Amino acid sequence: MLSERMLKALNEQLNKELFSAYFYLGIAAYFKERNLDGFATWMEAQAEEELGHAMKFYDYIFDRNGRVELERIEKPKQTFESPLKAFEAVYLHEVGVTQSIFKLVALAREENDYATEQFLQWFVEEQVEEEASTKAILDKLKIIGDHPQGLFMLDRELKARTPKLRTLLQGGGQ
Ligand code: FEO
Repeated sequence: MLSERMLKALNEQLNKELFSAYFYLGIAAYFKERNLDGFATWMEAQAEEELGHAMKFYDYIFDRNGRVELERIEKPKQTFESPLKAFEAVYLHEVGVTQSIFKLVALAREENDYATEQFLQWFVEEQVEEEASTKAILDKLKIIGDHPQGLFMLDRELKARTPKLRTLLQGGGQ
């Protein structure tokens, strides 16, 4: 059984992951409006992944006989000065999520909740990846600077990441 504190913290993280999905979808829309479809596709795939993260917390709370409490999801930002600024926001967001996961691990340790600590290990590793992949794109954008050609090349590169759920719903995942 989860302690009250642990349950509250897990529900808060569930909300943060749902917000993350919304956060990425907002940025996807920003890129889509600018016809940067590769960037938009990458963000849409990320939004789906965040929904997957939220569902992991949702399932885990039930597995431990806890009550899922869904809260209001904050409105995400949809306007940015530039693709670089959008990716700066993305990177900072992931750094914040990492801190949030670390706090959960610390709480699980404090509560001697070994099951939750174990559950969170997947997220600890995932955050290393998330920070690395977003930082790599951010660094490329810094190199590209004001050169549209470089931006279009990166846009093509990012298109390789397809949103799986969406492809499946559109009948393309057979
Ligand atoms: Fe769910 Fe991007 O961390």
